[in-house]
Amino acid sequence: MPVYHTWSKQNVKSLKVVKAEGCYFYDENGKRYFDMSSQLMCSNLGHGNRAVIEAIKKQAEKLAYIAPGFDCEIKERAVKALQEVMPLNCFFFSTSGTEANEAAIKIARMFKFPKYKIISRYHSYHGSTAVSISLTGDPRRYFAEKVRCTIEGVIFAPDPYCYRCPFGREYPGCDFECARYLEYVLKNEWHVAGFVFEPVVGTNGVIVPPKEYYEIIGEIAEKYEILLIADEVMSGWGRTGEWFAVNHYKLKPDIITTAKGATGAYMPLGITATTEEIYGFFEENFFAHGHTYSDHPMCLAPVPAVVEEFKRLNLLDHVKRMEKFMSKRLNEMKEEHVSIGDVRGIGMFWTIEFVRNRETKEPFVTRKDFMEGRPSIIKEISKAAMERGVYVTGPGWGNHLMLAPPLIAKKEELEEAFDVLDGTISALD
Ligand SMILES: Cc1ncc(COP(=O)(O)O)c(C=O)c1O
Repeated sequence: MPVYHTWSKQNVKSLKVVKAEGCYFYDENGKRYFDMSSQLMCSNLGHGNRAVIEAIKKQAEKLAYIAPGFDCEIKERAVKALQEVMPLNCFFFSTSGTEANEAAIKIARMFKFPKYKIISRYHSYHGSTAVSISLTGDPRRYFAEKVRCTIEGVIFAPDPYCYRCPFGREYPGCDFECARYLEYVLKNEWHVAGFVFEPVVGTNGVIVPPKEYYEIIGEIAEKYEILLIADEVMSGWGRTGEWFAVNHYKLKPDIITTAKGATGAYMPLGITATTEEIYGFFEENFFAHGHTYSDHPMCLAPVPAVVEEFKRLNLLDHVKRMEKFMSKRLNEMKEEHVSIGDVRGIGMFWTIEFVRNRETKEPFVTRKDFMEGRPSIIKEISKAAMERGVYVTGPGWGNHLMLAPPLIAKKEELEEAFDVLDGTISALD
């Protein structure tokens, strides 16, 4: 099929999927796969959720499209549902996480004009188009830089990556140099508008910063009057056991972006949520942004249904219960397998990081290996797990797997999938 495979050479073969139900999907031969990564960490409600499907069907019958300049009932209901669960109250709607971040940076730069610089982190992904890929710290940015598809004014700060601390320190016991470095940057830079961060880092290693990290970041942001832009495209919507990952921290972002779980991946939606102060600024100032498909009724249709399903299924409590199980099981696996260097996570958002040597923490693959086309250990593990009926992803430049099953996954289903992974990792040892 002449359809581009994303983030890949085109010499790959895809599996044909014919249906999906709950935590499983099925290929054309009827083989079943447990969805350990919720596809791209987005199918948080699992597959085939009736309430969400009905909401979409109803909206299609009633009003499939109306230009963003008009109001409509589903927009009012979606805003109300979002105001119930999101820490910020004013919204710009688009159709992807990338666009949510593009909008966030444009809003930040308009609000803070003439300040324009944005600080980001190396272990991050913020999207694929010019602005959002420029904010991205992972190697996907290198490809965009090569073809001059990036913007100027992005500065990278160190990550709160305790397993591989950029300052060679140990947590607990360190002085949070990774957070304090932000102040050093701000003392030496001018025109900084904001700091963008995934509150819990997703694709680049499920990094859960210690509480103190964001306390320090919050103080520095206030002192230097920069905006805090939390990218919750992956960490939002119950993934960490709270509606949004920022809820775990004493942190008051000025802008929150989200997508993925907002519709349970049943429709594409990007959300850029801002404070009332920022929204108020645009009462008087021209809001120079928008899309034909901003506020698309079909994309907003799942939002109230998703919020209701979370409540009906008591999902946040379930995630907290499963956190205990996933933590225990993964720590047992770490004891068993010499190739596991670290296991970490929160809620139903976990990772296994593999190493060649536990003492030296030597990784199997580096960013340079990836850029030079060397094979990925993660792709090998994913392939082996897939053969055994478990779908699990991880980035080709990384040494870790994304263990982020649908939030509806039951303990027994997870147990079965972990047993498969266990067997796959034994081969790696
Ligand atoms: C944290 C984060 N931000 C932004 C994006 C981009 O979202 P999308 O792929 O919907 O454009 C992603 C996608 O994985 C993400 O994980």
